[in-house]
Amino acid sequence: MELEIRFGEAIAAVEGDVLVVPMFEDGSWGAGGEWLAEQMPGLESYLESTGFKGAAGNVKTVPAGESLGFAAVTVVGLGEELDAEGLRRAAGSAARACSKFSTAVTTLHLLDIDEAAEMVTFGFMAGLYAFESFKSEAKPATIEALVLAGDGGGGEPAVARARALAHGVALTRDLVNTPAVAKPPAMLATRVEDIAAARGMTVQVYDEHEVIAAGFGGLAAVASGAANPPRMVVLDYAPEGATKSLAFVGKGIVFDSGGLSIKPASGMEDMKTDMAGAATVLGAVQAIAELGLAVEVRAIMPFTENVISGHAMRPGDVFTARNGKTVEVLNTDAEGRLVLADGLSLAVEGEPDLVVDVATLTGAAKVALGAEIGAVFGTDDARDLVVGAAESAGEHVWPMPLHSAYRSHIDSTVADIKNTGERWGGAITAALFLSEFAGDGPWAHIDIAGPARASKTDNYTPKGASGFGVRTLVAVAEALAAS
Ligand code: BES
Ligand code: MN
Ligand code: ZN
Repeated sequence: MELEIRFGEAIAAVEGDVLVVPMFEDGSWGAGGEWLAEQMPGLESYLESTGFKGAAGNVKTVPAGESLGFAAVTVVGLGEELDAEGLRRAAGSAARACSKFSTAVTTLHLLDIDEAAEMVTFGFMAGLYAFESFKSEAKPATIEALVLAGDGGGGEPAVARARALAHGVALTRDLVNTPAVAKPPAMLATRVEDIAAARGMTVQVYDEHEVIAAGFGGLAAVASGAANPPRMVVLDYAPEGATKSLAFVGKGIVFDSGGLSIKPASGMEDMKTDMAGAATVLGAVQAIAELGLAVEVRAIMPFTENVISGHAMRPGDVFTARNGKTVEVLNTDAEGRLVLADGLSLAVEGEPDLVVDVATLTGAAKVALGAEIGAVFGTDDARDLVVGAAESAGEHVWPMPLHSAYRSHIDSTVADIKNTGERWGGAITAALFLSEFAGDGPWAHIDIAGPARASKTDNYTPKGASGFGVRTLVAVAEALAAS
């Protein structure tokens, strides 16, 4: 259900059944809190008696007296100091705390943060997200509206931006959370066509025969063991008046068993999420189109399963990628870079101003930076642009080196390059591999193996697919549109 967001009167005059008010860690109230404390004389001492502090992430919902005009009050902690991301997070925690009411009224957007209404709306919408498609008894949130009491916080444009981002993130999360059995490549291609049709975008889909005819040797090799045929999907957003162009490439492994270099059972449990890169670029393009940004964007999504059969690619096999380079496959579990090789080759053929690929590429990136931080590699300008965009979007990434001395780790004795190096520096050698297909122009690679999934529900991210990267890619498009 779509949450309605509106600006309202002053708190006292707005109708709703739950009032959401912020508190800082030292117990001082944020916007609206002092007014509330006057209306509910017992509130402060009650909160104190329960040990409630306004630490970031803390929320407390208490029944309100009749006279207040709300059934309940939700107090949400802001921590010691507030920034934009802290406000998104507080709104996300608050959203879940009052999801069973029908109309929430808040003052969070009156806090001293630029475009606060955007952070509040995004956090609230993203925090309410739940994936219930496969529950026989779904328990959807009942909340219908969020009222931002009084005007402010950037107004309607800020809300519109948040909405587009939240829709993009929800799309990405839905696709990533969907079990592999329910998202074969052909079905995903159809889904992209539907999304494109809704926003006046165009799509080109290469079926399994066209994948081979077009020279997508990496995609064909990874797909060779699968019963469900692969698809190369190319989505184009081409608004009038755009002067810059951008290509996104996303890893679309619908399920990664490892192939013949098979993963242990524990390593396979989450591998329906191995198409998060493709889902992220799709969610971002949808948001970019919803916002009507003046920049051309092409999203390239190679979709396939990486599974085994008598037809599966074998360690030692060699294939030719779209750009003519030959690749020796020594570990079939390093499959993401094989499909990205073709995706990147195709991307640079269009001579865009910038290429960005996104992929759950290496366990090594997760080891290096943990589950909350994406690893960014690339040419210097592109890498810095992506890092800056992520910072402005409130997503955590860190710049990583394309250390050229490690290039020798992926020298092959029989082909131009091989698909695995040594264990150490695995995220770097994977990025060096990709750089062989990324042309000579500006290119950045974001390894989201860690942050694509959340292992527990926190702030605006419920457990499961996070939608990480969508906001960064939208910020990249905005930066390019503005340049
Ligand atoms: N999809 C995995 C990477 C991954 C691992 C993502 C854990 C999220 C969580 C990727 O295809 C893979 O298997 N990479 C191998 C590469 C190795 C064989 C060179 C890895 O990281 O172990
Ligand atoms: Mn793999
Ligand atoms: Zn993979």
